[in-house]
This record gives sequence, C-alpha cells and structure tokens, in this order.
Amino acid sequence: SACTASEGAVAPPSPAPILAGAGTAGIATAGVGTAGAPGIGDPDFPRDGNGGYDVEHYGLTLAYDPATRQLTGNAAIRATAVQDLTSFDLDLSGLTVSRVTVGGTPAGFSRQGDELVISPAAPISKGGAFDVVVDYGGVPQPIRGYSGLGTYGFTATADGAFVACEPNGAKTWFPSNDHPADKATYDFRLTVPGGLTAIANGELDGAPVTTGGRTTFVWRERHPMASYLATMTVGRFDVRTGRSAGGLPVYAAVDPAFRDSLDDLYTRSAEITDYWSTVFGPYPFSSTGGVIDDFAAGYALENQTKPLYGGFRPQQSIIAHELAHQWFGDSVSITRWKDLWLNEGFATYAEWLWSEHRGGESADAFFRHYYANATDPMWDYPPGAARPADLFNASVYVRGAMALHALRLDIGDARFFALLRAWTGEHRFGNATTAQFVELAERTSGRKLGPLFDAWLTRPGRPSVASGPPQPAGA
Ligand code: ARG
Ligand code: ZN
Repeated sequence: SACTASEGAVAPPSPAPILAGAGTAGIATAGVGTAGAPGIGDPDFPRDGNGGYDVEHYGLTLAYDPATRQLTGNAAIRATAVQDLTSFDLDLSGLTVSRVTVGGTPAGFSRQGDELVISPAAPISKGGAFDVVVDYGGVPQPIRGYSGLGTYGFTATADGAFVACEPNGAKTWFPSNDHPADKATYDFRLTVPGGLTAIANGELDGAPVTTGGRTTFVWRERHPMASYLATMTVGRFDVRTGRSAGGLPVYAAVDPAFRDSLDDLYTRSAEITDYWSTVFGPYPFSSTGGVIDDFAAGYALENQTKPLYGGFRPQQSIIAHELAHQWFGDSVSITRWKDLWLNEGFATYAEWLWSEHRGGESADAFFRHYYANATDPMWDYPPGAARPADLFNASVYVRGAMALHALRLDIGDARFFALLRAWTGEHRFGNATTAQFVELAERTSGRKLGPLFDAWLTRPGRPSVASGPPQPAGA
C-alpha cells in the first residue's frame, strides 16, 4: 500500500554498497550512512528478518475486536544499530501503517511487499540505541505455506484469534525483525471485549482491568524470545492458575469446548515442566502452562511459556514435546532455519524419553522401530538441512531424534545427559547452530563425532549399522 513521508525529512539516498557494514561508531554524517538489509541473512529465507540493527524490546499495545476482526496497534520497539543507518526495514504483512516515529520524530516510510522501509529524519549512528514507534491497524490475514501444515500467523476464530506464528508469521500482527536470530523481550497490553481473555507470553502484570465494556490484559515476557513464539490468543477461556510441585507458576487455559481437559492440561504441564527441569537443566522462564483453543489448526506450537494446542486434546507425548521446546528452541534458539532439527529432533526425542519415564516404550525401542523401516522416506531427507519448502518434514523430527539416540549410544548415558545440560546452559537465552552442537558434543565426550553426525544429519541414506544402532551393552 502507499506510503507517505510525514513532516520529517526523508533521509538522503544510500551511498554505494561498498560502505555496507563499514560504518564507524560516532555521529553519522548525512550521506555516509547505509540502508539496513531487507533480510537478516538466512539464505533459505532471504527476506525474513532485517539487517543493520538488533531489537532489544517490543512494547505492543493492541486492541482486537472479534466482531469486526479489526486489530489496532501501537508497536514501540527499542533497538540498537549495528551499522550506520539511513534507513532500515521491519517485517509487516498486510495491515495499514498510519505513522512511524524514530526517537520521537516522525519518519518516512514505505511498503515493499512484506517490508516496511523506515527512513528516519536523521541517520542513526552505529552503536546507537533508538526507539521506533509504529501506529498501524487493519484486519490481519494469516499466511499459508510450508509443507501443507495449514495456515499460521494471526488467525481469526469465532470468538477471537488463534496466534501461532512459526516460522515467520509474527509479521501478520506486529512490525518486527521476524527471524529467530534476533530475540527480544516483550510487553503486551491487550484490549479485548469484556468476557474474553487475551493470552500472551510470560506473566500477567496485575489483574486485568475492565472499563467501558473492554478488558485490558498486561503480559510481560522478561526473557528473550524469538518473534515466532509471540502470541496474543484471544477468546472465551476457562483458566486455572497455581504452582507446580517444584514451585513454578502455571497458567492453563482452554476454550469452553475443551473444558473437561483443563485440569489434565494444568496438571500434566506442571508435572512435565518439573520433570524436564531435572533432565535438561533449570527451567529457563518464569512460568509454564498451556492453551487449548478450538481452532482446528491440527498442530501445536511451543509459544514461550504458553504452548498452544490447535483444536485437540493433547496427549502427554505432545505436552512433553512442546514443553521440551522451552529448552530446545525457545531458550536455545536456532540461528538459521536449516538447523530446525535442533528444535524438532530434540523435542521428538523428549517424547521418547517421557514414554520411557512413564514406563511405556523406551527411547531405544522407538529408535529400533523407526530404524527397521528401510524404505521410510526420511532416509532420503538428511535432517541436518531442513528444506525451506518442507521445513517440518518428518525427518527433521524423527531422524533428528534418531541422531540424538545414535549419539547417546555412542557416548553413553552419563555424557549424553551432561551434554544436554551443557547445551541448555551455555546457550541459555541465545542462539546456536548445528556446528556448535557438534563441537560441544566432541568437547564434552572427548570423541571425534564427525562421521556419526555426518551419517545421521548430512548424508542421504539410512546410516549403516556401524554408525546406526549398536548392540546394547551385554547383548
Ligand atoms: N514447532 C511445532 C511443533 O513441532 C510445529 C509448528 C508447525 N508450523 C506450522 N506453520 N504449521 O510442535
Ligand atoms: Zn516441535
């Protein structure tokens, strides 16, 4: 849609690209700054995220009316320039922007596809912190794509909205640096018609306040979060709150259609979070929980502190999966989407661990079951490089989990579980890559693991028995 520069001057044209990234700290002189890149540098998703700055915090003040499907928003974003910036992008899909300020001064802006290009009145110097405020609104539209797994992003429901954004649907409801490589803290001030509940990440800051028939919920996520994990799920909900046996605050919410699942969701989420804390290391966040909405998404998403289940009663294995993601994916986040097995392989392995913990099938039995099928399509899809058109392929989940089990058999239980805790400890609240995992596995085990990871993650074909299922000790 069209753009207007408001009263502020539009920055001068960018200089030659040879200066890109070469800015020095200090006062930027007009004309020597550079435009921030329209992508953060993920080769498989070249327009996702943006370059030239890092976001520290999003303050989102949003009102949503399910009757009109109208979202009205004010996004206050605090960022730091990592280069001199004459202009920079945010990601935003649809919606209408009415005003942008940078440092309190009106800025020019234009829309180019899903890029909101912002030209501050004065260039921003490398290293400088700056505040961007975007006023916007409209009827959010979800996105469809990625292995036919349905729509994602802000999705209207009969009584509100179902908001699950992996991989790049945050831009359907707020202007963002929409890529997991730029994590930030979040405040949400959500106003909805009275009688509805608005659920975001983190914890409620005080009781909701109702005035003039509308209720405002203030949520704060004080730990860094990837944009795809942000949510503002809205609707009629039955809510149960309390503390886990381990003392962690728990928030469980279910659409009235799933009222009979509220206690199970609450109890299991508390129990499993406490259990994972003994296996994966301390729980990274300040509360746990879960939300069941009646929108039949057909999947769940590990929204930080508030996994979201789309229209089904989650079995224990799914709850175990989504809560394992709080360590693997949410606290330790991927840097590039091709490393998605670091999320999904680990969360799938956690399902097997939970089964074993509960006296069901062991992780080893799951591994052998899958290994036995020599014609499974996952043998043709090495999970170490998730494909952009098929990110959520079963191989990323199952063969990724098998890679972990093969590693465990190779290095032994003690070193394997110490490695998981070292991984969640060293990269807590950060980003990491497969190469860093391999490096840590070799460092903590004292072994050369290149061939094992190569066979399980990189090369097509079912790994041979040598790097595949060793015999259990004593067999
Ligand atoms: N990360 C989710 C899970 O494994 C899957 C998300 C699927 N994404 C989608 N756009 N359908 O639980
Ligand atoms: Zn998952």
